Amino acid sequence: MATSKILLLLLLIQCIVFIGSSRQLKNTNINIDNTFNVINFGAIGDGQKDDSKMFKHAWDAACDSSAPSPTFLVPRGKTYLLQPLTFNGKHCNSNNITLQVDGRIIAPTKPSAWDCETNCNHWIGFENFDGLHIQGPGTINGQGDKWWKLSCKDNEKSCQHRKPTGFMIGHSKNVDIKGLTFEDSPQMHIAFESSTLIHATELTIRAPGHSPNTEGIHIQRSTNVSIDNSTIQTGDDCISIGNESKYINISNIECGPGHGISIGSLGIMGKTEEVEFVHVRNVTFHGTTNGVRIKTWQGGHGHARNIKFEDITSHSSTRPIVIDQYYCPHKQCKNQTSAVEISNIAYANINGTSHKEIAVQLSCSESVPGKNITMKDINLIYEKHKDKTSSYCLNARGLRNGRVHPSVSCLQEEDNF
Ligand SMILES: *[C@@H]1O[C@H](CO)[C@@H](O)[C@H](O)[C@H]1NC(C)=O
Ligand SMILES: *[C@@H]1O[C@H](CO)[C@@H](O)[C@H](O)[C@H]1NC(C)=O
Ligand SMILES: *[C@@H]1O[C@H](CO)[C@@H](O)[C@H](O)[C@H]1NC(C)=O
Ligand SMILES: *[C@@H]1O[C@H](CO)[C@@H](O)[C@H](O)[C@H]1NC(C)=O
Ligand SMILES: *[C@@H]1O[C@H](CO)[C@@H](O)[C@H](O)[C@H]1NC(C)=O
Ligand SMILES: *[C@@H]1O[C@H](CO)[C@@H](O)[C@H](O)[C@H]1NC(C)=O
Ligand SMILES: *[C@@H]1O[C@H](CO)[C@@H](O)[C@H](O)[C@H]1NC(C)=O
Ligand SMILES: *[C@@H]1O[C@H](CO)[C@@H](O)[C@H](O)[C@H]1NC(C)=O
Ligand SMILES: *[C@@H]1O[C@H](CO)[C@@H](O)[C@H](O)[C@H]1NC(C)=O
Repeated sequence: MATSKILLLLLLIQCIVFIGSSRQLKNTNINIDNTFNVINFGAIGDGQKDDSKMFKHAWDAACDSSAPSPTFLVPRGKTYLLQPLTFNGKHCNSNNITLQVDGRIIAPTKPSAWDCETNCNHWIGFENFDGLHIQGPGTINGQGDKWWKLSCKDNEKSCQHRKPTGFMIGHSKNVDIKGLTFEDSPQMHIAFESSTLIHATELTIRAPGHSPNTEGIHIQRSTNVSIDNSTIQTGDDCISIGNESKYINISNIECGPGHGISIGSLGIMGKTEEVEFVHVRNVTFHGTTNGVRIKTWQGGHGHARNIKFEDITSHSSTRPIVIDQYYCPHKQCKNQTSAVEISNIAYANINGTSHKEIAVQLSCSESVPGKNITMKDINLIYEKHKDKTSSYCLNARGLRNGRVHPSVSCLQEEDNF
């Protein structure tokens, strides 16, 4: 009798202790505000010690958390050194995860210190998310200058073709990125790949004008992407848009130095590539090589169509308006008969100065001419001799209204649009 009573009592106590401890576990999550601070997971933040492992642990905890809206916090005032790292959202409990970056994140300085023999595609990656907010006043610096010296552009003998992308969002949807600064990526700064419903806003992206292949943002196989209210200064395109991308809005961008905003290049090595429904609005170019550009290789297939560029200001871009279907940066291309088809391209309200006399270049394919290219309210002046700009046209068809300067004679004059 007595022993069974004692046993029962013991069982009861155990039960209470168990309930208590499980409640305590839940409480600690709630007590720290659903916040998973990398410092609490052992990150040092001295810019010297590798914090990757601690980031991983903090990430696993945030991802496994039962909190409805967990925040992964990279606190301010410290510099975190990270090796290549991919955050995977596939098995996370929440579909509303915030990555709050208040501090500074840096990559290893020299390429040989990068821990990525097998996968050097990107430095920081995000895969398989549905519902991710990446935000904060922090900085993400790829320390790319040693990589740039390995560029094939500058250094054909001992060059490295594949340099890592700084920040990659792949196979994800409902992602927004807000407020961050991205600097000195080894290659392109940000890439959106195979993703949809992406919004990037209030970003600052900067790398020196001479840094090779350091695009600001590249969009590939992605739809319903908007990029706005951002400043982008790099050594390549501020924004570039590649295959299988559509419903892209770009607005309120300060671009330059850099190569401008580009669709393409499309159709390399006879490939079929498609971009459509792109709207670029309210962009100012500062000393860029191109302004708004569509570039395709000879011999490609597919199309670039339904693209609108409006409310654009050029401050001394080399060529503010370009369609180049003879794109060939290495000077070893043959002219071919197939081409990426270009149609329904609208240019409206484009002002400013051009660094070269030819401010408008429409070089379309011989076999597949550019169709329905329209221009209205264009006023581009040559910075050296006011109003002496000219245009170049090849195989381009469409309409222009009377207020197009320089005159683009291949487009038919038609005042009612
Ligand atoms: C998502 O998380 C953010 C930040 O924690 C919060 O402000 C927002 O209300 C959440 N949204 C939803 C739909 O739960
Ligand atoms: C792009 O802009 C159009 C018109 O303003 C809007 O209807 C559409 O939802 C926008 N798309 C994205 C992805 O922001
Ligand atoms: C993407 O945008 C297009 C055009 O605005 C719209 O029809 C479509 O529903 C959008 N897709 C998603 C997944 O919201
Ligand atoms: C971008 O800036 C414009 C003009 O300042 C503002 O009206 C708009 O709300 C901003 N957009 C976003 C998404 O913050
Ligand atoms: C155009 O973009 C600039 C930033 O480049 C912004 O200050 C301005 O408010 C935008 N104008 C409109 C009408 O959105
Ligand atoms: C480009 O996208 C199209 C359409 O989805 C696809 O058929 C084609 O294979 C893609 N091209 C390349 C080079 O990936
Ligand atoms: C271009 O100039 C016209 C006429 O001066 C002006 O109405 C328009 O707002 C200007 N557009 C831009 C984008 O600066
Ligand atoms: C290809 O054709 C263009 C336009 O006719 C011409 O300017 C260019 O020289 C040609 N390139 C070659 C390699 O034949
Ligand atoms: C020409 O392109 C515009 C879009 O820029 C489109 O609205 C219009 O329907 C096109 N016209 C023809 C005849 O295809």
